[in-house]
Amino acid sequence: MFDLEQTIQDRHSTRKFLSQPVPRNLLDEALTLAQCAPSNSNIQPWRMVFAVGVRRDRLQEALLNQAKQQLPNIPPLPEAFQHYRQELGVQVYGSMGIARDDKANRTQAVLRNYEFFGAPVVGIVCMHRDLGVADAVSVGMYLETLVLCLTARGLGTCVEVSLAGYPEIIRNELNIPPELLIICGLAVGYSDPDFSANHLHISRESVEKNVRFLDY
Ligand SMILES: Cc1cc2nc3c(=O)[nH]c(=O)nc-3n(C[C@H](O)[C@H](O)[C@H](O)COP(=O)(O)O)c2cc1C
Repeated sequence: MFDLEQTIQDRHSTRKFLSQPVPRNLLDEALTLAQCAPSNSNIQPWRMVFAVGVRRDRLQEALLNQAKQQLPNIPPLPEAFQHYRQELGVQVYGSMGIARDDKANRTQAVLRNYEFFGAPVVGIVCMHRDLGVADAVSVGMYLETLVLCLTARGLGTCVEVSLAGYPEIIRNELNIPPELLIICGLAVGYSDPDFSANHLHISRESVEKNVRFLDY
């Protein structure tokens, strides 16, 4: 058994992984536990496709080729929310020593998304395209459960919506059928302890900003 509060605090996005392979039994344990996640009408709408070894490498090559030629097809953030991304960029790129106006190094850092930050395992998180928001919530609950179970086993993770910017590449490489919507990726592996950005504690709003209690 693991300490839940400690695991929640330990979880963070890992953006540089070691090449050390991930033992399959750890993945299987985490996947079995994540199946306990609740879901709308118990549909269990999450569908995961994992790529390791040659399949992972081929996916990386295809994604990188495309990402070097074409911007990802990801809707822009509404203006009111864009400052969050800018503030995150300051924290993440800052810790990598990349200045705001250093376009070349920023581009290289963004491309690392399509190398899964070096993770030896990449999962693609999918759901049936006819399902709705409540089902996407169910997938989110599953994904957080999975990520916490992986964290508790000493593994690093990074959820990557950036991968969903090239759905056709992923579909072709991993034989994902058209009825499955590609939501995001999940990089899994052992964190590189020497990479400073792996030790960031990305700031959060106060609870009061996000939560209201009404009692009158
Ligand atoms: C749905 C989702 C998509 C994300 N996509 C990316 C991504 O494409 N690339 C990336 O580096 N981080 C991505 N992240 C990680 C977030 O930037 C990160 O969770 C957030 O900044 C908080 O930092 P923390 O995870 O270290 O606590 C994503 C996280 C979520 C939940």
